[in-house]
Amino acid sequence: MSQRTVNAGALVLAAGKGTRMRSNTPKVLHTILGEPMLWYVHSALSTLPLSGLWTVIGHGADDVRAAFSHLGQDAFIVQEQQLGTGHAVQQAWDAITDAGLDAVLVANGDTPLLPAASLRALMDESIAQNADIAFLTLTLDDPGAYGRVTRGADGTVAAIIEAKDFRPEDHGGEVHEINAGIYWLNTATIGPLLSRLTNNNASGEFYITDLVALAVAEGLTVQGINGGSDPHLLGVNSPAELVRSEELLRKRIVDGLLDEGVLIRRPDAVTIGPRASVAPGSEVCGPCEILGESTIAAGASVASNVWMHDSHIGEDSTVLPFSHLEQATVQARCHIGPYARLRPGALVCDEAKVGNFVEMKKATLGPGSKASHLTYLGDTEVGTGANIGAGTITCNYDGVNKFKTVIEDDAFIGSNTALVAPVTIGKGALVGAGSVITRNVKENTIGITRAKQRELPRRK
Ligand code: UD1
Ligand code: CA
Repeated sequence: MSQRTVNAGALVLAAGKGTRMRSNTPKVLHTILGEPMLWYVHSALSTLPLSGLWTVIGHGADDVRAAFSHLGQDAFIVQEQQLGTGHAVQQAWDAITDAGLDAVLVANGDTPLLPAASLRALMDESIAQNADIAFLTLTLDDPGAYGRVTRGADGTVAAIIEAKDFRPEDHGGEVHEINAGIYWLNTATIGPLLSRLTNNNASGEFYITDLVALAVAEGLTVQGINGGSDPHLLGVNSPAELVRSEELLRKRIVDGLLDEGVLIRRPDAVTIGPRASVAPGSEVCGPCEILGESTIAAGASVASNVWMHDSHIGEDSTVLPFSHLEQATVQARCHIGPYARLRPGALVCDEAKVGNFVEMKKATLGPGSKASHLTYLGDTEVGTGANIGAGTITCNYDGVNKFKTVIEDDAFIGSNTALVAPVTIGKGALVGAGSVITRNVKENTIGITRAKQRELPRRK
């Protein structure tokens, strides 16, 4: 049977302070494996055929907007005062009805591991059952501070009762089915109930969850769809809950990569973010962190204590311990580290070598070139086959502006050299150790600026 076409959108509730995080950072910006919690909720929703996505923000609104500026201003609805989840939906309702939606999927912004498949199941089931309001539930040994789902003798949903308002004695004991905070609302039938929410409860807030009892009283179709005890559906409210979810996802990613054929040594100590891609046939050793949009190609190896963010390691390249890469690219068959620091805009071309205590920033090290020890290359372009001696410093900054250094193919820079930019060292040129170079050195010449050595009698 083909399904009716339902024009649905999504609404993410993300305005709350997250008091239990005890932090000034808005809760949804707290990260899991390097990505804000809200990013995960948006990613899961983006897999569904939805015709709009709005996010209610409030606490730290400017920060949240800035972190998700790619969504555009219209994607956000500001809830000036956070008077509860029901109030948050009320604030967004005009945008939803103006968009002419038949239904809206509402998700708490603090449910980062929310599986796309669960959202899909909620949507499909709601459409199939023609539900007016439907929501995902879980059955937990310890229902904690989650809203309790009460049902009648025939199993139909009666209400969601918030933990603070729930009295076991009124329900024949504890209730273990809880509300996961993911809802499907039919706009035509549930919209009119929004104005009937009250804040007459233990928190003094307008609860979205009260829509359930209101819908039941109206004789509408209400569905509580049970997702078993899937911990991916648990909301994150505290640091302890955050790291519980982070560990769950971390392990899932690492186990998945092991199954695909990535050799992950000490897997319990390896952190790989959800946007990173690590090719089968590569090797990673814990402890290490590979975050952001990083990639590791087949045959590459990343040793322990490496930190990478938005960085790329090419085929058969080796990154040795304690190296730190941020927005850096390492091409094929390179040797990096130990203790290398590649900062944004560092490009290490094929077969090049970056050794210990070498820092690169907006700098290219050409194919087969080497900077093996104690060097700073900033705003620099190094050609092919050049050798950068120990202690070479490109002086790229005069306190106001940045200038460029060019080191052409096959040049040789002696140790402890300062290259004062803007400056070019020509092809095949040699710079004598200990020089301070302020003018260009021509191709195949020797540039040297150090004072002649003298031996003087020592006065005693
Ligand atoms: C909520 C549910 C509870 C459910 C649990 C699942 C309510 C009243 N309770 O409780 O039944 O078991 O989620 O995790 O909804 N928010 C706003 N504006 C506000 C208040 C909250 O946008 O005025 C946002 C928060 O940023 C958060 C989400 O709504 O992302 C849920 O709010 P939270 O305070 O965490 O609700 P819980 O107590 O966890
Ligand atoms: Ca919550």
